[in-house]
Amino acid sequence: MLTISVSSDHAGYELRRKIADHLIELGYTVNEHGAVSATEAQSYVSAGKEAALDVSEGRADRGIVVCGTGIGISIVCNKVHGIRCALCTDEYMARMSRQHNDANVLALGARVVGYGLALSIVDSFLAEPFESGGRHQVRVNEIAEQENEYFRK
Ligand code: RB5
Repeated sequence: MLTISVSSDHAGYELRRKIADHLIELGYTVNEHGAVSATEAQSYVSAGKEAALDVSEGRADRGIVVCGTGIGISIVCNKVHGIRCALCTDEYMARMSRQHNDANVLALGARVVGYGLALSIVDSFLAEPFESGGRHQVRVNEIAEQENEYFRK
């Protein structure tokens, strides 16, 4: 079973806790990071980095990160080596992010999606395989080449 690293800032705290409980119930191993409550502010920058590094450094297979909109924390994750973070607002985006982009981190906006939809997006993201070996593999390889060209770890 996969290990999933979940993290959030304070705005994403309640949804992150629901996601963590949901994943544990399904049998996943969960590394949980980020805000300790919905009222004590924690930057989405430090929160996102913790989950992204878990994936980048091999401590987790996938990451799920949450902030108010999902935007800030997705930007942060996409600056970490090897991370392809997809901000999704529905199941179709989650499935495509896996099939076409081999996304390894899912970002959600707690102020954008309700709990039911969010958990459904999570399930879609974790269930969908990458269409490896074809044109999508070529694109993902291109992303890695560009990353190696322009960024350092
Ligand atoms: C926090 O108020 C909010 O700015 C943050 O959660 C996120 O939406 C930023 O992108």
